[in-house]
Amino acid sequence: MPTITFVRDGSSIQVPAGGSFLKACQDEDAPHDFGCTVGSCGTCVLVFTAGADNVAPPSKDEMETLDMCTDVKGARLGCQLVVKGDIAVKPL
Ligand code: FES
Repeated sequence: MPTITFVRDGSSIQVPAGGSFLKACQDEDAPHDFGCTVGSCGTCVLVFTAGADNVAPPSKDEMETLDMCTDVKGARLGCQLVVKGDIAVKPL
């Protein structure tokens, strides 16, 4: 199972391959903040410190929300992430 590492505090959790970052965080009470959980508020924006290629590409809707809330290249919405391999993330 892929590992999600939270750079902010060094903690990590496991997620099934192809699983939801949001669900894994909710199940494990992980240290990442969410708001709407449906890809519209931008609260969950994150960047990768490792494993950026180990997630599914963003949808058009995710890209639209990202365009509104940040201009940081490679930023993603945590609530929309599908995890395919090990990643390390930190909030933006
Ligand atoms: S929690 Fe609102 S966009 Fe992810």
